[in-house]
Amino acid sequence: MYDQASALRRLAGERDSAFAKSMRVLAVSSGKGGVGKTSLVVNLALALADYNYRVIILDGDLGLANVDVAFGITPRYNIRNLLNGEKNIEEIIYPVEKGVKILPGASGVMELANLDRGRLQNVLVNLGRLEKMADILLIDTGAGLGHNTLNFICASDDCILVLTPEPPSMTDAYGLLKSIHKQAEKINVNVVVNRVKSETEAQQAYERLAYAAQKFLGFPLRLLGWIYDDPLVGRSVMEQKPLALSHPQSHAYKCIQWIAGNVVGIYRQPPTPNGGIKGFLSTLLSSN
Ligand SMILES: Nc1ncnc2c1ncn2[C@@H]1O[C@H](COP(=O)(O)OP(=O)(O)OP(=O)(O)O)[C@@H](O)[C@H]1O
Ligand SMILES: [Mg+2]
Repeated sequence: MYDQASALRRLAGERDSAFAKSMRVLAVSSGKGGVGKTSLVVNLALALADYNYRVIILDGDLGLANVDVAFGITPRYNIRNLLNGEKNIEEIIYPVEKGVKILPGASGVMELANLDRGRLQNVLVNLGRLEKMADILLIDTGAGLGHNTLNFICASDDCILVLTPEPPSMTDAYGLLKSIHKQAEKINVNVVVNRVKSETEAQQAYERLAYAAQKFLGFPLRLLGWIYDDPLVGRSVMEQKPLALSHPQSHAYKCIQWIAGNVVGIYRQPPTPNGGIKGFLSTLLSSN
């Protein structure tokens, strides 16, 4: 059988100069849907921009274009146009506020697995150029145990697991952790507890999950932060304007700014062996 992953590794190796080593890939995921991933991704990107990080958001929620909706934008092209060879990466990337950029239409990323060598080469050259455009590739993955979600998480350098303190969200978060653990033992999982009423509620939710993950999976988690339940989040969704821009003084956005500071802390530590966009693509392809 044609080995896509080894072909990719060979091509990536041939093109080392196109890949700087600095970009980190950070996947934001959740066990249950609707817990606040997109809201976190969009506002975290804007908060990281204030720390002078160049961020590209990859909308990995297949088909739903969550990130476009959050910004109220309708990009003309998506990653499929790149795979078809119709457009290059610079034409697809959609700039929004504060220098943040969107890479729309991640359903096309999964099509990478079926590309022939000629097209793969072209895509690699294009995606390799991402390294020069940004410091962080922030992926809004779909929720749950879908094959694509897991592949995105396991191919990333780090993962943020979003949950709310409600029991179904906790149970599904644990289910996702179990699957991540099976597929990639080395991934760093950072927890954000969303929609909390108090710090105590956040700490308790985190500790329950961290205890179960450690005891039954031997898997350490880390608390990255929490976000208060805040009606302004819902309002910004209705306005299709991210909280960072519409309500920067809100409690929820202040929490996200604090979380961004903690993410910056992660990036002061050495990267995992996964290794940026090159490692991301290589792992993504080998898992298909
Ligand atoms: N901190 C918060 N306070 C109040 N409401 C919130 C908060 N975070 C998210 N929400 C609400 O939850 C809803 C779902 O948020 P969001 O779309 O970000 O979740 P998601 O995890 O991306 O969902 P999906 O799995 O469907 O992609 C939003 O409409 C928003 O109003
Ligand atoms: Mg979403």
